Amino acid sequence: MKEGQTRTGFYKLIGKSQEMQRLYSIIEKVASSDSTILIMGESGTGKELVAKAIHFLSVRAENPFVPVNCGAIPKELLESELFGHEKGAFTGAICARKGRFELADTGTIFLDEIGELHPSLQVKLLRVLQEREYERVGGVKTVKGDVRILAATNKNLEEATKRGEFREDLYYRLNVIPVKISPLRNRKEDIPILRDHFIKIYSDKRAMEPIVIYDDAMEVLMKYNWPGNVRELETLIERFTILTENGAVTLEDLPERFFPANQHTPIVSSGGIPHLPPEGIDLNSFLDEIETNIIHQALERSQGVKSKAAALLGLNRTTFIEKLKKKGIDTVKSGDSQ
Ligand SMILES: Nc1ncnc2c1ncn2[C@@H]1O[C@H](COP(=O)(O)OP(=O)(O)OP(=O)(O)O)[C@@H](O)[C@H]1O
Ligand SMILES: [Mg+2]
Repeated sequence: MKEGQTRTGFYKLIGKSQEMQRLYSIIEKVASSDSTILIMGESGTGKELVAKAIHFLSVRAENPFVPVNCGAIPKELLESELFGHEKGAFTGAICARKGRFELADTGTIFLDEIGELHPSLQVKLLRVLQEREYERVGGVKTVKGDVRILAATNKNLEEATKRGEFREDLYYRLNVIPVKISPLRNRKEDIPILRDHFIKIYSDKRAMEPIVIYDDAMEVLMKYNWPGNVRELETLIERFTILTENGAVTLEDLPERFFPANQHTPIVSSGGIPHLPPEGIDLNSFLDEIETNIIHQALERSQGVKSKAAALLGLNRTTFIEKLKKKGIDTVKSGDSQ
């Protein structure tokens, strides 16, 4: 790959934005190493795809890739799920069973939603990261494993450590190499190729002609905020493929959420002065939207560095962070550390 060349995809990831270029080259660099990696990104940004890319581009590719969703398995079961158990370790343990760490031996374990891990298991995981060894539940024998650990979270783990919800020592052990995936709203230029990609997948699946999304509908999709990121776009296109009558998607086919309640938003004229429409407006939501928009611009310009973004807005950092929290703006983005 030549320097400066733009890729439209990598492994199974699609995207041509600067953010994705950066992601592709990080994946390439980290895949060959054996280091622990923490993948961060909002829901639906492709964390699992990134984890698989890292594994399948590594020397472990031929060996197992074992995902575990730490948020979906009750804590009582998770320990034996991860580390296995001996016969008779607890009621119902009628035979010994290997845990996911053992199943992942010589390969990669993917600990998804690591932020949900119960404190008692956080300690045990820390030991695995430090010593590369553990015991099965109810067992005395120490098991040594050769497993590469990838973890993912949609939470801000650094904040969680400050609140005392996540062990700081574990956070540092996991965060050897952070890989941050940018939310879709910060790389909207990827929307058209993602659209084409998903249209092809879903029309091929149903052996039908690819659907067409009309320009006016597309314009709305380009302006939308995509809180559910790529997954939201994918499900929308799957739905269009099944539901649209003649294979053409028009404005009317878009769900309600694409048309926020602010249809009465004042038109901002070229002079920059908002014009109050005859039917009036909801002033609070109008101001709120302007605020959100300008905050996103500041974050983008400062490449996610909060202190810089705050300075651009004449706010002190604490007030700015409070605002982000209140608005639920997730700032997990490449380069976002301060
Ligand atoms: N850049 C991308 N290119 C192609 N497909 C993508 C991309 N990003 C995400 N997807 C698709 O979107 C869906 C969601 O991706 P994935 O499950 O990896 O997200 P996630 O970050 O793990 O989400 P969650 O936090 O909700 O588990 C999947 O079907 C995945 O294939
Ligand atoms: Mg996931």
